[in-house]
Amino acid sequence: MRAFLRSAGVIVVLCAVAGVAAANDYFPQSVASGDPTATSVVLWTRAVTPDGGIPTRVDLSVATDAAMTDVVATRAIDVDAQYDGVVKVKVDDLMPYSDYYYQFSYGGNSSPIGRTRTAPTPDMDVDVRFAVVYCQDYVGRYYNAYLKMLLDHDEDIDFIVHLGDYIYETTGDPQFQDPSDERKIEFEDTEGAIPLGSGDDMYYAAASLSNYRDIYRTYRSDEVLQQVHERWPMVVIWDDHEYSDDNWGATATYFDGRTDEYDVERKQNAERAFYEWVPIDVGLDQDGELDITAADLYPNAMIYRDLIYGSNLHLVLTDLRNFRPDHLIREDAFPGVVAVDEQTLAGIIGEGWPAVRESFDPYVDMDVLGGGLPIFQQTLNLIAANLYMMENPELDFFEAVRLGEEAMSGNVSTTFINLAFAEAGLIPPFPPETQAGLPRGISYLLMGKQAVYSDLGSRYFVVKDTFDLYAVVGYLASGGDSQEVYGSQQNAWLQGTLLLSPATWKVLGHSFMMTPMVIDFTNPLIAALLPPEFPDFLRTTMVINAEDFNGLPHKRMELLGSSTTSGLLEFVDNAVVISGDIHATFVTDHQNGIYEITPPAISSATSGDIVIRTAASDPILGQIPGIEQILENFALLLQISSMGPAVSPSDILYANTFSHGYGIFDVSSDAFDILIQQISSDEIGTSYYDDPEALNDLFTPLMFEIRDGLLSPVVQ
Ligand SMILES: [Fe+2]
Repeated sequence: MRAFLRSAGVIVVLCAVAGVAAANDYFPQSVASGDPTATSVVLWTRAVTPDGGIPTRVDLSVATDAAMTDVVATRAIDVDAQYDGVVKVKVDDLMPYSDYYYQFSYGGNSSPIGRTRTAPTPDMDVDVRFAVVYCQDYVGRYYNAYLKMLLDHDEDIDFIVHLGDYIYETTGDPQFQDPSDERKIEFEDTEGAIPLGSGDDMYYAAASLSNYRDIYRTYRSDEVLQQVHERWPMVVIWDDHEYSDDNWGATATYFDGRTDEYDVERKQNAERAFYEWVPIDVGLDQDGELDITAADLYPNAMIYRDLIYGSNLHLVLTDLRNFRPDHLIREDAFPGVVAVDEQTLAGIIGEGWPAVRESFDPYVDMDVLGGGLPIFQQTLNLIAANLYMMENPELDFFEAVRLGEEAMSGNVSTTFINLAFAEAGLIPPFPPETQAGLPRGISYLLMGKQAVYSDLGSRYFVVKDTFDLYAVVGYLASGGDSQEVYGSQQNAWLQGTLLLSPATWKVLGHSFMMTPMVIDFTNPLIAALLPPEFPDFLRTTMVINAEDFNGLPHKRMELLGSSTTSGLLEFVDNAVVISGDIHATFVTDHQNGIYEITPPAISSATSGDIVIRTAASDPILGQIPGIEQILENFALLLQISSMGPAVSPSDILYANTFSHGYGIFDVSSDAFDILIQQISSDEIGTSYYDDPEALNDLFTPLMFEIRDGLLSPVVQ
C-alpha cells in the first residue's frame, strides 16, 4: 500500500509539472516525437492490449491545440506485430516552426497527448534553444537531471539532441553499474544474452532482439523519461552502448581479443530495437511507416544526418561507431612485440633521431638470433605461450604454443625479454652493456601494454609520445584509413555539409570527445602531487582515453589543425562541437575559434567515479598510497595537462568530472549562449520524482557565451 501511495504521488506531481495524462495500459510507454524538419516530424507510440496482445490498427490525430480541437491531420495506421506493438510514423505537410499536439487511439482507448515542434525554414532568422543530453544509464540511477529540465524549460526548448548511450546493454557491469531493487534490467531471454563476469559479479549483456527490447521497455517505463518525450522532439544518434561497450562496427570488446567478437546478427538486433524505440527518421517506408529492412541495418545503416533549423543553426550529427576502424593498438597486441622498427622510426623523426634514439626500446630480430640459439628461442617461446595461457584459460595448449611462437618471431624487445626471464626465475639474458649496440624501436610495452589481452595499453592508459609516433606510421601506410573514424562516405558528406552550410552556427555533434584526455605526469605542477611510491613507468604523458578521438590523433588533427597544418573546422565559421560519452563536463578551446562543449551525462557513472573505482581495483594502481586523493583531482590533472606543452593546441577551460546534468544552448544571429546545469554525482541514487522542487537547490548553473569567435564565461 505504501508503494502504491508513493507511486500515485509521483504521477500527481509529474502531471502537475507536465499538464498531460500519464501512460496507460494501452499505451504503456506513452508517446514520443523526433527528427523535426520544417514540414515533418516522426511520431511514436507503443500500443498493446491489456492481455498482452497487440492491436491491429491505431488511429493518430494531430492538432494545433493541446485540447485536440483543431485537428489538422488524422491517419489510420496498421500495426505490424513483428515490431512488438511499436508504431512509428512520419507525418508531413506541417507548417514550419509550429507546435503540434498528437494522440494515438484504438478501441476507445487513447494515449497521452504529446507535444512537438517543427523546425523553422532555412530562411527564418529565429532564436533557437535546444538541450543536449547523453548517457542515461537506468541501472540504480534516477533521471533527476531530466526532471530539472522539465521544471525549468517546459515551453522554451525547441528540441533535444541526444548524443548517444540512450541505453546500456548490460544488466550490471560492476565497473560502473549498481543495480537496485527498483532500478534494474531483467532479460526474459537469458539464454539469448551474453553472460559476463563470474560468481557474485555475474551479469548479462544483451544479444537477442528480445534482450535489447527488454532494455528499452524498462528505460521507457520511467515516468520522467516519458514526460521528456511527451514534451519535446528528440534527435538521437547512437554511441557504443546501444550495441556493445567500446564497439567498432559489429565487433564488441568484452574479452579484449581472447575471442573473436564480431557479431553481425547481434549488431543488427541492437539496431532493430534502436529504430523501433527511438523516434529517428530511419526504418520507415515511403508512406512514413515502420519498415526496417536490410538497407537500414549494419553494414548499410546510415544514421548520420543533418538538421537545418532556421538560418542560425545547422546541426550536423555523425555516426562514430559503425564505420570506425579498430583501436590502433589491438587488445591482443603482445607487449614484447616491436610495432615500429628503427628504420621506420628514424625516417619519421628525421635528423633529430640520434638525439632521441636512446629513449626507445632496444630489440633483437629473433628470426636472425633465434636460429643460432635454439634453446634460447624455445625458452622464449615457452614463456610467451605461458603468458597466453595464463591470461586466457580457455585457450587450447597447442594454440597457445602457436601464438607464443608467432609473437616471439621477428623483432622482440629486449626489455620485455629481460622482464619475462626474470619473472620466470631465469637470468635476464641482455644486461645493459649488451644493449648499446642494439637497434631501437617502439614495442607495445613502450606504449603501456603490460598484458597480452587488455584494454589498458590499448583503449585506455596509453603512453602518448610513443603512441603518437606509432599512430603516424599506420596513418601514412594506410593513406589515412587507419584513423578514418567516419568512413570515407560519411567523411565526404561531412566535409561538404560543413563547408557549404550558410547557417550562422554550424554545430557538429559527436558521440565522443576531441578534448584531450591526457595527464602529463611530468608536468611540474602534477609531479609535485605524486607520492615517492608512484611507479616510474607512469611518470610520463598518458592518454587516459584512447577509445575516443585521443586514440585517433591524426584524424583529430585533420579536423582541428596543428601548428603546421590546417584543419577542416578552421574553414568553418562559427563551428561548435558538442560531444558526449565521457560522463563529465568539459568546455574546451581548440584554438582558431573552434570550441567543444561536453555537458555532463544525464545519469551514467561519472568519469571521476569510474577512474577511482578502476584504480582501486587495479593490482598496480591500487597499491599507490593516496591514489584516490590524486584522482579526486582528475579534472584538474586533465586541465593542467591541457594547458602545458604535452597537449596542443587544445586548452580545457572548464572541467568537472563528478557531475550529472545537461546543456541548454541558445543560438541567434550574433551569439551562442551556453548554460550547463550540474548536480553532484552523490545525488544520482536518490529519486526526487516526488519532490522535484528540491532539485532547485541542488543544481548549479554554469554559463558561457560565444561572440565574435570568442568564448567567455558569463558571471551572473
Ligand atoms: Fe556512456
